[in-house]
Amino acid sequence: MATSAEYGLGEFAFPRGWFAVANGSEVGRKPMGVHYFGQDMVLYRGESGRVVMLDAYCPHMGTHLASGPSSATSKRPSHMEGDNIRCPFHAWRFGPDGVCNNIPYHDGAIPAAARVKSWTVEERYGIVFAWHDPEEQAPDFALIDFPEWDDGEWVRWQGLEYLADLNHPIEIFDNMSDVAHLGLLHGGDAIAYENEYDGHLLHQRQRSAVEAGGVFDDTYSTLAGYVGPGIAFGKFQEMYAREIICVTPIDDGSCRLWQTAMLKRREGQSADEAKAMRDQVSAMFGNGLMTDGEVWAAKKPALRPMQLTSDGPFGQSRIWLSQFYNPRSQAAQIVARVAGTHYARGWPPFTQAEAAE
Ligand code: FES
Ligand SMILES: [Fe+2]
Repeated sequence: MATSAEYGLGEFAFPRGWFAVANGSEVGRKPMGVHYFGQDMVLYRGESGRVVMLDAYCPHMGTHLASGPSSATSKRPSHMEGDNIRCPFHAWRFGPDGVCNNIPYHDGAIPAAARVKSWTVEERYGIVFAWHDPEEQAPDFALIDFPEWDDGEWVRWQGLEYLADLNHPIEIFDNMSDVAHLGLLHGGDAIAYENEYDGHLLHQRQRSAVEAGGVFDDTYSTLAGYVGPGIAFGKFQEMYAREIICVTPIDDGSCRLWQTAMLKRREGQSADEAKAMRDQVSAMFGNGLMTDGEVWAAKKPALRPMQLTSDGPFGQSRIWLSQFYNPRSQAAQIVARVAGTHYARGWPPFTQAEAAE
């Protein structure tokens, strides 16, 4: 295990960006403790339906807001009141903004320091995403967009499937520029390949010859990429499948990996058949990712990959990634060093291969 500093990523141990922290279905009225970015937080759903994520520890005496039975405030049926949460130890009440707005036994002023951080969260695609920013500013890029989610032709996913807790997220991220492992680990060689860096977006485009478990056996195009440092996507064009892969730092040097997939309903398919096929494709993608996962789990950190011109552009991708580990004022300058399209020696550029067809 190695830290962000050992990888030379930048000033911050944890990057700026949107990250999955839970499935929406897991978050209810009972507060739930989570640990990401080296910190403890509490997640709950307010009475209004909104998801709230607060720093976990009460400023009064350090109680974890999700600890204790929900009846810990013994005169009250639960911690929860509207969109507020009460600390189980002395019942100080915090609003969804993290500010203490009631101390039941105290008629004086509430100290200004009686507050916890309230995180920016968005619940979308059945997933709760949180904005992490070491500079504590508002998001400077939007969450990933999946227009298929609201298209009735598509069978939505039902939430992220947990795959594994792994080492530093950069080891997963390197996959985005690793053209040479595709044939060995994923069953078919890339026949055209390129990476493009564009602001907070990284694109990987490839055409492969792949046996896809009977769902699609031929050459096909995959448009993949990262939207910020924590959310990756795969658009499997001829398979009409969309995958989301979420990578959330746990501590400096570890991360949680989840994925799931949507599929376009085939002609004449019943709803049940379409769901079964979506599950089959999602499991196939998950298994594919975990063939990498076995390697990631057992490898030593690649602090400085020995990059050949015939490898994909690892170094350039890592420069792109470092924009999120440094102050946002430096992001444009960092991206300018690699902006544009990069190739791997021996693989034809994807865009030209597509245009030639
Ligand atoms: S420790 Fe939270 S109210 Fe006292
Ligand atoms: Fe891979």
